[in-house]
Amino acid sequence: MASYEEVGIGDAVLLDEISTRAFVDNLRVRFNGGKIYTYIGEVCVSVNPYRTVNLYGKEYVTQYKGREIFERPPHVFAIADAAYKAMKRRGQDTCIVISGESGSGKTEASKIIMRYIAAVTNVAGQQEIERVKNVLLQSNAILEAFGNAKTTRNDNSSRFGKYMDINFDFKGDPIGGHVQNYLLEKSRVVLQQPGERNFHSFYQVLFGASDSELSRLKLKRDVNSYHFIRQGGSPRVDTIADKTDYKACQGAFKTLGFSTEQIDAIWRVVSAILHLGNIEFTSSGDETQIKNPKVVKDIAELLHVSPDQVTKALCHRVIAARGEVMEKRHTESEASYGRDAFAKAIYERLFSYIVQGVNSAIEVRYENQSPQYKYNTVIGVLDIYGFEIFERNSFEQFCINYCNEKLQQLFIELVLKQEQEEYKREGIAWQTIDYFNNQIICDLVEQNHKGIISITDEACLNVGKVTDEMLLEAMEKKLKGHDHFTTRKLSPMDKELKHVVEFRIKHYAGDVVYAIKGFLEKNKDTLFQDFKRLMYSSSDHVISSMWPEGAQDITMITKRPLTAGTMFKNSMIALVKNLASKEPYYIRCIKPNDQKSPVIFDQERVTHQVNYLGLVENLRVRRAGFAYRQSYDRFLRRYKMISQYTWPNFHGGTDREGTKILVEEQGFSNDVKYGNTKLFIRSPQTLFALEQGRAKLIPGIVIFLQKMWRGAICRMHYRRLKAGLTILAHYRKYKMRSYMLELNRVFRNVKHMQDYGKHLRWPAPPLVLRSMVSDFQSIHNRWRAHMILSNVPKSDWPQLRIKVIAGDALMGKRADWGVREYWEGNYLASTKENPAASNFQSAVRNMRNKDGFREVLFSSLIKKINKKNKSSERAILITDRHIYKLHNKTFKPLRSPIPIVEVSGISVSPGQDQLVIIHLRSGNDFVISLMSQTNANRVGEVTGLLLRQYQLLNRTDLRVIVNANLQCMLGNKSRMINVEENSVGSFPAFSKGPRKELIYTWPTSMNKEIPPPSKTSTHRQAPAPPSRSPGANGYGNGHIKSNGHNNTNRHSNGVHTYGNV
Ligand SMILES: Nc1ncnc2c1ncn2[C@@H]1O[C@H](COP(=O)(O)OP(=O)(O)O)[C@@H](O)[C@H]1O
Ligand SMILES: [Mg+2]
Repeated sequence: MASYEEVGIGDAVLLDEISTRAFVDNLRVRFNGGKIYTYIGEVCVSVNPYRTVNLYGKEYVTQYKGREIFERPPHVFAIADAAYKAMKRRGQDTCIVISGESGSGKTEASKIIMRYIAAVTNVAGQQEIERVKNVLLQSNAILEAFGNAKTTRNDNSSRFGKYMDINFDFKGDPIGGHVQNYLLEKSRVVLQQPGERNFHSFYQVLFGASDSELSRLKLKRDVNSYHFIRQGGSPRVDTIADKTDYKACQGAFKTLGFSTEQIDAIWRVVSAILHLGNIEFTSSGDETQIKNPKVVKDIAELLHVSPDQVTKALCHRVIAARGEVMEKRHTESEASYGRDAFAKAIYERLFSYIVQGVNSAIEVRYENQSPQYKYNTVIGVLDIYGFEIFERNSFEQFCINYCNEKLQQLFIELVLKQEQEEYKREGIAWQTIDYFNNQIICDLVEQNHKGIISITDEACLNVGKVTDEMLLEAMEKKLKGHDHFTTRKLSPMDKELKHVVEFRIKHYAGDVVYAIKGFLEKNKDTLFQDFKRLMYSSSDHVISSMWPEGAQDITMITKRPLTAGTMFKNSMIALVKNLASKEPYYIRCIKPNDQKSPVIFDQERVTHQVNYLGLVENLRVRRAGFAYRQSYDRFLRRYKMISQYTWPNFHGGTDREGTKILVEEQGFSNDVKYGNTKLFIRSPQTLFALEQGRAKLIPGIVIFLQKMWRGAICRMHYRRLKAGLTILAHYRKYKMRSYMLELNRVFRNVKHMQDYGKHLRWPAPPLVLRSMVSDFQSIHNRWRAHMILSNVPKSDWPQLRIKVIAGDALMGKRADWGVREYWEGNYLASTKENPAASNFQSAVRNMRNKDGFREVLFSSLIKKINKKNKSSERAILITDRHIYKLHNKTFKPLRSPIPIVEVSGISVSPGQDQLVIIHLRSGNDFVISLMSQTNANRVGEVTGLLLRQYQLLNRTDLRVIVNANLQCMLGNKSRMINVEENSVGSFPAFSKGPRKELIYTWPTSMNKEIPPPSKTSTHRQAPAPPSRSPGANGYGNGHIKSNGHNNTNRHSNGVHTYGNV
């Protein structure tokens, strides 16, 4: 509990002595100490300070915002906050009922509450909410201008009842509202008691409007010129700033969205009423006439109707009887009555029209709102006319005081009666506290048939002429013996009551003597149809729209309207029902004195109010009672986390037992009582401690729940992920397995295929195996190579390798490249081929010693041609490093050997001839024709050997050209060589052609028949690559396409100019 400087006792529940005296003394001490608010538990008693108090600033708002009632000194802010919190926390509609007699500060309190709510809401600063708040606050200026007046009790007395609902969205921000107005005291328009004023609006326009505005309204700035506003004799009041209020009212009209035409029409109506008050009648004979027709003209102009119509409506009435329409002239007094009724009715309509305008400015605009706004809650603020007693009390006071009886009844019902009944029901030991139940007075007024309103209605219904006196008699007859009703006739000894004129009601708040005069008329509240039609005929649509029933035909028979009394009664019953449906908060206003003085505390006046408000009974009930009650199950659910015995769940017995354990553990046993179904907690402090304990633990619980839930979500996610992976793995396995099965099926018989399955199409692999397929394929390729090679003896593998290389370069391009021959290479070392083989061998030895090569790859006799076109026989020797040109007999080298790395290409013809051109970088190519005893075809062998050796030495491929017309360089000159076959010669020869070209002739007699390829043709002498199935591609004569050399033809070392291939 916060500490603050205490004057007297802030919460009267804590008073040492409970008595009216002690209670009032405490109020006085606090009032004198500047403390105007005092609690009775959660009821706030407010004593009107009659001075500006500095209690409502921003610093006060922050002190009360979100705090518990008992934490801070008593204040209306705390009540407003409690209502707001309940609404926001529990989604509960709440209402704040402000009661107290006239001038006790109800209207001020309601405005303070609205300002507080505006100050604590819309932290997000939303524009629409700001607008709504502004409209809510500013609507007061308008409603007070037109509905408040100075009375002898209060300079700013509300002469209408106001119940305002403020709608909040789910976040607790105000999104709109609705004003319900109750019975306006319209008699004030035409009549004011001494010291009182008419409604503020009349004075505001006179003092506030500019000269030009006034002249448009045909007004003089002089109160005394107008009968309707001068009767009270006190037009100017210190506390009322009419001029500023007029400005504020005009500003509020604009804020609320009233149009210029509407505002203009409103002030014209107000002015017309002022003029209407000045209409006087004269009668000559039975002719009633208007004394001052100029005024009629002004009225007509202001109301936008014709002056004749105005005159007519004021002096005549049209009646329809049995289908006939007749005109009847008023008597003077009828005319005066009609004028006043007219003035009152216009003002009443105007007021309702303004309330409607206020409502359309603040109504919740659902259509623009997101659906969440539809779930809104409401705080109702009731500021209604307070109980009042005047010198002369009439029908209006009767209604106002009845209204206060109803509110008191509600308070009794909720605070005193239901509360005590609940204690009994719950079996709580309880000493019944007596209080005065004013139900009996409510019944006196409102009961059907027997109540004053019913009696008055009956009198009004009477067809014959009924007077007020007759009404009083009827009341005396029916209410004789009632404790709270009397007249002089019923109590002849009571000298205070005037015979046949007055009756007295003993109200809960005091005795009031009412004058019966006017009761019937006011209850009937008749207005001649003529006026309704007149107003409807206005060319100003704002004015005519206030009088829709003026459109009715005169002859139309309408239902008798409800009387004013019955309508008021119905509205009160509806109001009480509405309030009872909400959670109520009370502010009880007290007037410290009748002088509006900030220093006088009139003990007697205050005691009277405390008594009739039932505050001490309230205090007794409160003190003996309990601040808070809750059913055991809900209590346990809310606070179970506080105790280790009840958290997370209580299993040791009933909810009641769980509650008991919790309460005892927390040490609150002395502050509670255990009812049959509910726990009762006496002091709010205990409740607060429970709430605090709970609030402290909630974050931990929230984190715990979040933790558990996050864990659960993660586990769920993990399980789903794992399931997915398992499915994926199985599916992958299945895909792989089925692919492998498919491979198995496709390749089942490869072993028995001629090409070991090379031609087979590989089935499309699944995604997972796509990268593996090339590995499978290379495995297959290796296996095929193994299978092929396993048919060839190991000693033949080097020869085979050369054949593969040669085949790559020549196959398909040359008719025969000697693949079927056994490639021995060093032919000159064999006596079969070379009788002087031993000479050759020793020459080779010499060369090896000199040049240091490792092995002889090839040797043969050749025919060559030189740059001078001279052809000669020679021998060629190819070692692993060099190409030698040797003498054909001595085998001595004829020039220094040509390094193989110097070779730049090989050209051969497509035929069976033995021409080989070894292109050299030196610009002098080696143009030879291979020779042998057996006419062997060795072009392939030479080509293959050179290709391989070049590749080994240079790591690039030699270019091989196969063409019938070839080109060579001899002596740095480019020469064409045409290969020609002829049948004339018997050995190949070089010659010079007619165009300087060289001609190499090949005798067709040396051509051999080429046998068709077959697997069985492979014999020892000639290991040939196995043939592929014919037609698998364009090769025809099959061989192995070696991986390492299959690009031979395509690569160029880039230096050659020969090659129009
Ligand atoms: N809280 C307050 N602070 C200052 N003056 C107040 C306060 N409450 C009431 N008054 C004064 O009392 C007058 C009457 O209050 P009002 O609220 O109009 O009474 P009610 O509505 O109960 O008839 C106000 O005009 C104002 O001068
Ligand atoms: Mg008021």
